Amino acid sequence: MAKIASSFVCQNCGAAYGRWQGRCESCGEWNTLVEEGAAAPVAGGARAPRKGRAFNLVPLSGETQDAPRLPSGIAELDRVTGGGFVRGSVLLMAGDPGIGKSTLLIQAAAALAKGGHRTVYISGEEAVAQVRLRAERLGLATAPVELAAETAVEDIITTVSEGKTPRLIVIDSIQTMWSNAVDSAPGTVTQVRGSAQALIRYAKKSGAALMLVGHVTKDGQIAGPRVVEHMVDAVMSFEGEGSHQFRILRAVKNRFGPTDEIGVFEMTGAGLREVTNPSELFLSERDLGSPGTAVFAGIEGTRPVLVEIQALVAPTSLGTPRRAVVGWEGSRLAMVLAVLEAHCGIKLGGHDVYLNVAGGLRINEPAADLAAAAALVSSLAGAPLPADAVYFGEVSLSGAVRPVAQSAARLKEAAKLGFTRAVVPEAGRDGGDAGLRLTETGNLSTLVAEIAANSPKPARRA
Ligand code: TYD
Ligand code: MG
Repeated sequence: MAKIASSFVCQNCGAAYGRWQGRCESCGEWNTLVEEGAAAPVAGGARAPRKGRAFNLVPLSGETQDAPRLPSGIAELDRVTGGGFVRGSVLLMAGDPGIGKSTLLIQAAAALAKGGHRTVYISGEEAVAQVRLRAERLGLATAPVELAAETAVEDIITTVSEGKTPRLIVIDSIQTMWSNAVDSAPGTVTQVRGSAQALIRYAKKSGAALMLVGHVTKDGQIAGPRVVEHMVDAVMSFEGEGSHQFRILRAVKNRFGPTDEIGVFEMTGAGLREVTNPSELFLSERDLGSPGTAVFAGIEGTRPVLVEIQALVAPTSLGTPRRAVVGWEGSRLAMVLAVLEAHCGIKLGGHDVYLNVAGGLRINEPAADLAAAAALVSSLAGAPLPADAVYFGEVSLSGAVRPVAQSAARLKEAAKLGFTRAVVPEAGRDGGDAGLRLTETGNLSTLVAEIAANSPKPARRA
C-alpha cells in the first residue's frame, strides 16, 4: 500500500510540492516551504469507502430562520458587514498584530451578549485573565459572554454544540488553532486550513456566525490567513497607521454585502470608539494656509468623506527624482504628473514628489485626481489653496477634467463642514450646488493657471 506521503507546503500561499525547493514556484517567495504530513481527509484516517447517504434536495424558496442578520450594535462594524452577522456565515478579520482586532471583537461580542444572544469568545492567544482584564478596562466585564482559552478545534466544537446554538463564535486567532485530524504542527498552513475547515463546517451546519481572527505577517514563520480567504464568506481588514489613533475597517470580500464601505474607529484609552463623522476626524489636524494641501470630497461606499491631500514638490538632489505616495495609487500619481507635464507646461523632472492622504485613509477613487493635481501645483508654486474650498474630478490623459458620480452628496458634505467653495468638473453637476460657490474646471491647465496666478514666486513654466 502507498505509504503516507509527506509534502512540502509553502507557508505563504499554501502550494504543495513533492520535494523541497528553495523558492515557491506559485508565489515566488523564498524559503517558505516546510515539510508537513499530508492533510488527512476530513474525518481522519484511511477508512473503507462507504456508500453515500441520500440527503434532501430543497426548492429555492422556503422558510428561513427568523432574523438571518443580526446587527452587532456597533454601527461602524455593521456598515462593513452589510448589516450584521448572517446566520452560518464565516468572517475573517485580518490585520497586523496590535491593531485592535481583539478589542473590537470583545466589544462586538459583549454588545451581542448584552442583547440576549449566546456569544462565545475563544482566545487561543491570551489567557482568560488577560481577556478579563481587557473587558474590565472596556467596562464590559458584566456582559454574559462565554469565554475560554482553548486551541483544540474538536474540543471547541464539542463544547459549543452543547446547549443553545451560539449566535456568534469568535476564534482569536485561527493561527493558534489545531485540529487532531491533521498531523502538522500548529501554525502551519495545513493546520490553519484544517482547523478553519472544521470550524466552518460547524458554523454552516449549526447556523452560528463565526468570526475568525487572522494575523497578517510578512515573514513566512506564521502561516498567513491567505489560504483561509477562499473558504470564508467575508474578509475584513482592520488597518491603521502607527502614528494615528484612527482604525479603518474595510471589507475585502463580502458574499453578503458591499465591499466598498469603510468603518472608522478611534483607539482610545477605553477601547475603540466609533467615528460617525469621519470627515471631521480627517480634517481635524488641518494645516491651514500652507501650500501643498487640498481637501478632497470623496465617497467611501455610501458615505461622503472629506480628506486632506498633502503634496510636497521639492528640488531633487538625486539623478532620478523620487516619487513617494501614501494612501493613493502610485500609478495614478504618475499619470497626473505626466498630464501636468504634457498639457500644463509644468516640468517636474528635477523635483522629488511626495503625496500623502492625511489620517491614514486609502483612496481608490479616480475622483481624487483633481485634488491631487491642485495640491501638487500649489506646493510647486508655493501658493496656498483657499482654505474653504474642496476639490473633486477625474483627470483624463488629455488634461480634461471629467465629471464623477455623486457630486451632490460630496457638495452637501462639504457645505455641512463649513466649506463655501468647490472646484468641480464642468459637465455633470447632478443636482444643486448645496449653497457652495462652484468653480467649474473643464481643463486641468485652467486650474494650474489660476493657482499659479496666486504664486508669490514665478511658477516654473516651460
Ligand atoms: P488588541 O486588540 O490586543 O490588538 P490585536 O488583537 O489586533 O493584536 O489591541 C492592542 C492595542 O490596543 C494595544 O497596543 C493597546 C491598545 N489598546 C488601547 O489603546 N486601548 C484599549 O482600551 C485597549 C483594550 C487596547
Ligand atoms: Mg489579539
